[in-house]
Amino acid sequence: MIKNCCMISTWKMSLLGMKRAAPLLKRNVPVHEAILMAVKTVEDDPAISSVGYGGLPNLNGEVELDAAYMNGDTLGFGGVMSVKNIKNPIEVAFDLSHYQRNCLLSDIGATRYAQSKGFAFQNMLSPESKKRYDQTDKMRDSEMLEAYKEHDTVCVIGMDHRRSMACGVSTSGLFLKMPGRVGDSPIIGSGLYADSEVGCAAATGVGEDIMKGCLSFSIVEKMRNGMDPQTACETALQQHLQRFCDAITAAEASPSLQWTAMEMQELPLHYPLSRSLSPIKTFPPSFMLLPTSVEKSPSFSRIRVGLTAIAATNQSVKPSRGTFLLYLLFFSFFCSIFLS
Ligand code: GLY
Repeated sequence: MIKNCCMISTWKMSLLGMKRAAPLLKRNVPVHEAILMAVKTVEDDPAISSVGYGGLPNLNGEVELDAAYMNGDTLGFGGVMSVKNIKNPIEVAFDLSHYQRNCLLSDIGATRYAQSKGFAFQNMLSPESKKRYDQTDKMRDSEMLEAYKEHDTVCVIGMDHRRSMACGVSTSGLFLKMPGRVGDSPIIGSGLYADSEVGCAAATGVGEDIMKGCLSFSIVEKMRNGMDPQTACETALQQHLQRFCDAITAAEASPSLQWTAMEMQELPLHYPLSRSLSPIKTFPPSFMLLPTSVEKSPSFSRIRVGLTAIAATNQSVKPSRGTFLLYLLFFSFFCSIFLS
């Protein structure tokens, strides 16, 4: 019987990967297999222009990739930064997560390691990403580096039937970034964090902003202190914005959080296997406030300046007051229908 399995990932681009990965969890494979399957599917898709093959080129027109993996049971962490022609950076990151030392490698060191272990290589600049680079005004666009509007990092969080949790992330980083620039994704605690005793979180958006708040660790710590994933995401993002963003942004963003609810197709994927094995569903955020059970509730939160976080917990959480009131409302509604 499937119990307690769940996956959540960022953005519609991970739909195919989630479709491939979810049946693995259903068959009780370890969580890392499902996460690798989901992330690799995104990395391999040339149509996805912010991850893996066909990713966004840097200022020199090269696709430079960051990826990381964290094992929530062991706290093992592995990552690669600024790698150029590794076909699936997430595979190398996962491999490195087994080591106590030398688990985060960059550029040439990561490349040599991947070669020595026989990982696949290919030119990651697709004809489309080259065309995008050639047609861009580099001087102008490199002045205003923002998260790619069609979305950036793929983040996948999972929990298997053993209640083991893990997280994998992969990205090409910002379009026209300076060669060698590293974002939040391969930085433990910023782009991702996983602790099977508590939960997982991962972030997307502009890496420099995310890193200043160690956002993923901050969310997991809030869950450790009893917050449900939704509240932990919202609180961490909001606190971070108020503290770190410039005065205009902070004033604009506080206190209300901005959802991306208007565009259904942009919502992240939420796949609570224990509740519904198929099909994959995208839920509006308001629905996400209702946990699939009080024990686990993958969540998603987004703030206007482009900081986004997903989280899932492995511990019992009390429904938030808002959720409780919503339950009460539904309950009263059904009672009134029943009694009338
Ligand atoms: N969040 C991806 C990056 O900033 O590189």
